[in-house]
Amino acid sequence: MASSFTLGDVPRISPAYTPSSRLPISSENDYPAFYQESIADIGKYWADVAGELEWNAPWTTTLTGDLPRFQFFKDGRINVSVNCIDRHARRNPHRRALIWISETGEERIWTYEELLDQTARMASFLHQQGVQAGDVVGIFLPNLLETFAAVHACYRLGAIYNIIFSGFSPEALYDRLVNTRPSVVITADATYRRGRLIPLKQTLDQVLDRVPSVKHVVVVRRANNGVQMKAPRDRFWDEILMDVKTRRDPVYMEANEPGFIIYTSGTTSKPKGLVHSAAGFLVGAYHNVKMSLDLGEGDVYWCTADTGWLTFPIFEIVGALAHGVSAIVYEGAMDHPTPAHFYEILTQHHVTKIFTAPTWLRMLARFGESLTRDYPLPDLKLIGLVGEPLDASTWYWIREHIGSGQVDINNTYGQTETGSAWASGIAGVSAMKPGSCGPALPGHAYQVVDDKGRALEANIPGTLVITKPFPTLARTIWNDPERYDSQYFTQFPGQYNTFDTALHDLDGHIWVLGRIDDVINVSAHRLSTMEMESAILELPGVAEAAVIGFDDNIKGQVPIVFVTLREESLKQEDWTQKIQEQLSRQIGTIARPSQVYVVDAMPKTRSGKIVRRLLKEIVKTGTVQGDITGMENPEIVDTLVDQLKSGPSKK
Ligand code: PRX
Repeated sequence: MASSFTLGDVPRISPAYTPSSRLPISSENDYPAFYQESIADIGKYWADVAGELEWNAPWTTTLTGDLPRFQFFKDGRINVSVNCIDRHARRNPHRRALIWISETGEERIWTYEELLDQTARMASFLHQQGVQAGDVVGIFLPNLLETFAAVHACYRLGAIYNIIFSGFSPEALYDRLVNTRPSVVITADATYRRGRLIPLKQTLDQVLDRVPSVKHVVVVRRANNGVQMKAPRDRFWDEILMDVKTRRDPVYMEANEPGFIIYTSGTTSKPKGLVHSAAGFLVGAYHNVKMSLDLGEGDVYWCTADTGWLTFPIFEIVGALAHGVSAIVYEGAMDHPTPAHFYEILTQHHVTKIFTAPTWLRMLARFGESLTRDYPLPDLKLIGLVGEPLDASTWYWIREHIGSGQVDINNTYGQTETGSAWASGIAGVSAMKPGSCGPALPGHAYQVVDDKGRALEANIPGTLVITKPFPTLARTIWNDPERYDSQYFTQFPGQYNTFDTALHDLDGHIWVLGRIDDVINVSAHRLSTMEMESAILELPGVAEAAVIGFDDNIKGQVPIVFVTLREESLKQEDWTQKIQEQLSRQIGTIARPSQVYVVDAMPKTRSGKIVRRLLKEIVKTGTVQGDITGMENPEIVDTLVDQLKSGPSKK
């Protein structure tokens, strides 16, 4: 099935950022040997990383077992909140840990000492309510300061938190709560997004009668929107902390105990509650943030993700705090009230590094150059991102227009299951290749394999698999351990299947071409939707592109293209012809789309992924039956249905 794949002549661009002495290597020439050594003795590599953290009792064995059953740092005892908060509060209590900013520009700041105080007293309260190590606590919160204290209060007690995206509908929330059966849920009265009030407590109230496990609800007061409080079950966070004066001491947990449960994002069908170990996740997130961003105490850093997606625990709640940074916590939509808001925050806070999603970079390009001229962003050095393919043309636009033209872009690849973005350049060390996800980080062994599991050579696309354990890999699926094995380890026994198609090039860079089901098969030619989307995005005026494969009796599948444009006036042009020509030219006539739709906006998940399955459903059935909860813009569905009824762009 595999055929060779031409990436074209992708330049290697040297990073402008100078890495700190924190990083284990400073030159790209040292990477191959360093990487090979790390893979040859995985246990030793991760022991060195884990040794940079504070343990209460040492481990006896670094790594036992193999995929899918393995243990890191067996018998070692550690507490995550101590490593993310107490360590820094001891040395530097008045350092700003968190800077919360709302859409309307309000700010609240917590120092490390304040974060410790809120965390340890909330842990006392949870303990008083009977929460013990190993119990589940539901966290249904947006990006607030208290969210960090809620998560770390659970870590402090060794309780397992189940993080639930605050944009979910009551039914989606219910599904998760009945699956994890928490005794306490921590929520907020409401949150704001695009200026709209989103009544979280009210959403929770709609399901609590059906979730008898919940005995206590803690409500963070955000909007004062007069929520109903049912005594004695419901109490406000601030009132609780007025009563609870004692700080709970940390519980040191064995390193393989579960830390949290997170459900996979909405691009897949039935959600799975992935279970991550507390210590493994800490060690891996600490490592990920260090290598991908080289974060240190001198940084003002902003991860723009939402609490409900794994990016935020990796790159902000755990990984960033483990490095003692000052982190921005933003609630709401970044382009609200205007696209300038994002630039204002970066300017005002002298932000040095951000971590975001490709969709946001495409939005920045769509907003245009006048903003980048108004806000020169002299402090910004590095932009990391994860989540979906980043096309080369957006890469170049960002590099040229954002900041001084010297901002490095680190496109990383990871999954909710892998717990870290393990394909990634090393900040300031790895050369950048626009469109690639960088090389594998040390300590992560992988292969690209054919359908029979045979390793493929460079430049041949196949399935990306992980061949050795690493600490952040999810350990099981909550309440469904068989599904964990059958889903991920059946096709290639002993190897974790990512279900992504990828190739590695001669420089060892990994190119993730899309989900297995994003690869479309036109007349027995494998075409990557990412490759086609990148070619379309090269056309001036195109802001976003999505390609889906549609069943065709003759060709097996034919590509259908959706685009949004940078300006309304461009709609007059003949996009069908332009895109057909472009794809024929760039990939071959085989890639000529049968239909091209110019739409006002793409349907997206809150983590910024275009929901291609929804576009497919509309094309196929003219309507949407599936679950659209958790989408960023559910209202776009009706508009898309109408737009598609009027047919493709003129031929
Ligand atoms: O298909 C890959 C895509 O996103 C999927 C993982 O989604 P999620 O679990 O929501 O990610 C959480 C991130 C910590 C992958 O299977 N993906 C992610 N990053 C990239 C990507 N596709 C291409 N390039 C990337 N950089």
